Formats: sequence, structure tokens, C-alpha cells
Amino acid sequence: MSEAHFGAVNTPVYRASTILYPDMAAIKANTQPYTYGRRGTPTTRSFEDAISSLEGAAKTVSVTSGVQAIGLAILSVCSAGDHLLMVDSCYEPTRILCDRTLRRLGIETSYYPPTDEIAGHLRPNTRAVFCESPGSLTFEVQDIPAIVKAAHAHNNGKGGASVLMDNTWATPLYFQPLKHGVDLSIQAATKYIGGHADVMLGYVSANERHAARLHQVHGDLGLYASGDDCFLGLRGLRTLAIRLARHQQTALALARWLQARPEIDRILYPPLEGDPGHVLWNRDFSGACGLFGLVLKPVPEDAVAAFVDGLQHFGIGYSWGGFESLIVPAHIKRTAKPFAAEGPVLRIHAGLEDAGDLIADLEQGLARMKDLS
Ligand SMILES: Cc1ncc(COP(=O)(O)O)c(C=O)c1O
Repeated sequence: MSEAHFGAVNTPVYRASTILYPDMAAIKANTQPYTYGRRGTPTTRSFEDAISSLEGAAKTVSVTSGVQAIGLAILSVCSAGDHLLMVDSCYEPTRILCDRTLRRLGIETSYYPPTDEIAGHLRPNTRAVFCESPGSLTFEVQDIPAIVKAAHAHNNGKGGASVLMDNTWATPLYFQPLKHGVDLSIQAATKYIGGHADVMLGYVSANERHAARLHQVHGDLGLYASGDDCFLGLRGLRTLAIRLARHQQTALALARWLQARPEIDRILYPPLEGDPGHVLWNRDFSGACGLFGLVLKPVPEDAVAAFVDGLQHFGIGYSWGGFESLIVPAHIKRTAKPFAAEGPVLRIHAGLEDAGDLIADLEQGLARMKDLS
């Protein structure tokens, strides 16, 4: 690849709308690798090719955000009159997309508890089953091979239901959905692949059976990701493995320390031995990222605010996967089965800072909380 770019190690940013053809014959033959900016440049292709090799995919398409990737994946499979079986622990904007825009388009969504067997939730017109594992905010681990088996065997008159998975938590380094039988693997590359809180980017990777339709719908909707953003995605990939290893190590240190504190009811993090999802996580995943949940014992709201507001090393903000530590209150919405939490729930992203500094910060925060409890 370097030879094509005068020896530059990385594929440079190509900014292009028009791509020129040498003559009329070339237009007629239509065999040029690049034809128009929206349909790809060497930068977007380099990103997609790198992702395809990590995902073991037949095709990857890049888009401008994780939510766009979720919408694209669903629209690649579902049509008006179809039923979509959605996991109850999905990222909340996924739920909003289903309940609002997809409903308007005639795609009906129902929700299943993340750890249920899906057979009882399938309907004659179920076209797709959507998974997100571990789940947003509550971190339940799903039995993906069992879900794939039931979905593919489903008799809907259309060759079975497709399985779509939001795999943002594990990234393709720690879980490869397609290798576990999933049909479309979805990633908010905004998080760990970008890794520096400075890019919005998403992608969908497809197996052989879903590749052509994914490519077609991506084109029909005019979706693409910019060369600048794919360049940042590629740059993030170079350090993803070492960053993730450090995020995991720090998150484990924080989670174990918090677990032993009297103010904490429980930690939601599958790598912990006692976590309800630990056995499945251990069977299917090769690692964990730095994102986990924290259920406090019942405590007044102003005491939680005193804990969170005074933290020095944790920003208060949505998103995750960047180099920096974050904390946010978790507003959990479930409609299939309530999530029982004894006290307020917080979500922590363990960044790349020193774990000792982070723990000292949390310790002072818990002392502030205790003063107001
Ligand atoms: C699990 C999950 N999927 C998808 C997204 C959406 O990604 P984006 O913000 O790039 O649209 C997020 C964002 O927080 C997320 O947490």
C-alpha cells in the first residue's frame, strides 16, 4: 500500500468529490477503483479493509456515527411489515430509532430481556434479532451462539431471521461477532477505535450472505464517512490493542477497589468473577474494555452529586472509549423486564490515567458522599 502513496507509511487523507476519468472509454468500461467521493477513496477503503480483516468480514462500509451504523444495519435487513426483535438493554437511541422512525416505516419492534432464550419471543414475521452484549448501562452478557442458532432456524418463510449485533463494548479485538455466526457486526468507532474523543465514526461489517444488500443500502441512502474521519479511525487502530489492555487493567483495579467499599451495592462488569455474565464472557470474549457500572446503596441525590461533582480526574459526560476517565448517572430504560437497582446507578469509563490517582479521587468522592448521607 505504501508504494501507492510514495512510501508514506499511512494512507493519506484523500479529500475528493469528483474523480476524473482519462477518457470516454474509461467511463464506459466503469472499471476504475474509484468513481466519486461518496462511493469511497483510498482513505475510506484502507479503513474498511483493515476493519474487514479484524472482523473476518466479506464487506465493511463506513458511516458518520454509531447510530447511523445501527440504522443502516437494520434497514439492510428489515422492510415494512417485518418484525424486529430488539434486546431490552440496547443503547437508548437505538430504542428511539425503533419506536419512532422505524415504526413510521412499518417495521414493528418488540423487546426481549438480554439473558432470555429468544425462541419464545420470535414471531412469524420476525426478520431480524438485534443484540448488544454486554448491554448498555447494565452490562448483561448475551449467549450469542444460542441466539444465532434460534434466529437462523426460525421459520419465517424468508430463510430465517438475521442477527445484528452492536459490538462497541468489546471492539473486534475482544469479540468477533461474525465468527460467532452474527450476520451484521455494528461498531460505534467513535469510542475505542477513534480512542481520543475527537471523531464521530461508525461502520457495519457483513458476512458473505449480507454483503451485497449492505453495500446497496449504504449507496442508496448516500451514506459515507469522510477521509479525515477514516484517517483518525485508522490511526486509532494502530494503538487499539495496547490502549484496550490498559483500559481493562485500570477498570479491573477500580472495579475491585469499589467492590470492597461499604457504599457500593454491586459492580456491573462481566470480567469480575461474581458477575452474572462472567461465565459467558469468559467463554466468548478475549478481553474487556474500560466501561462498567456501579450500583450505590440507597443515598440522597445531593450526596451522589457531591461524590461526582468534586472528582478531579473524571469528566462528567456521555460517550466513552477515549483516553480520559468519565462518569455519568445511568438512566436505565427497560420495557421487557425492569432492572432492579437498590440505589442510584453510575457508569464509569476508566481512562489511561494512573490507576492510583483515579482510586484516590474516588476515595475522596465517597468521603464527600458519606458526609451528606
Ligand atoms: C453501545 C453504543 N452503541 C452505539 C453508540 C452510538 O455511537 P455514536 O455516538 O457514534 O452515534 C453508542 C454511543 O454512546 C453506544 O454506547
